[in-house]
Amino acid sequence: MAEELIIAQASKAEKYTTLLPQVQALCTGEPNLVANLANIASALKMTFDFFWVGFYLVEKEELVLGPFQGPIACTRIAYGKGVCGSSWKQNETLVVPDVEAFPGHIACSSESKSEIVVPIRKNGQVIAILDVDSNALNDFDGIDAQYLNELCEWVGTHCF
Ligand code: SME
Repeated sequence: MAEELIIAQASKAEKYTTLLPQVQALCTGEPNLVANLANIASALKMTFDFFWVGFYLVEKEELVLGPFQGPIACTRIAYGKGVCGSSWKQNETLVVPDVEAFPGHIACSSESKSEIVVPIRKNGQVIAILDVDSNALNDFDGIDAQYLNELCEWVGTHCF
């Protein structure tokens, strides 16, 4: 596949439906996890111009920073801590419209205002999470949750 992303000038749902098959095509046949997660982070950042997009990988009792796009971020997050650690512990997608209203939110950047965190599972176990941050309040909704869940389900079964 050519290393060029086709980004739809369209609604959010249309952008996701254009993006997901391209991401799948890009990663299919490539066995390297870092390469695939790096390209997925880039594809999401380029398509939506999110403030920060990245992965944290489960390592023992912590999440450890993986491939990402955006400003530098905290390297390790404990189980149950912050939005990422909570999503891991609860094994569910968390949409946070205002990060300052989330108890225990970990502020990697003061510019981050809202956030969505999606667990990535293999055989039912959370093995990583996808974290997407916006510099606007209330920037994520059920459409993001629906398509990012779909993406992360695919990533968990095809990239790990
Ligand atoms: N805000 C996250 C930490 C990760 S950074 O946003 C990249 C949290 O509360 O878990």
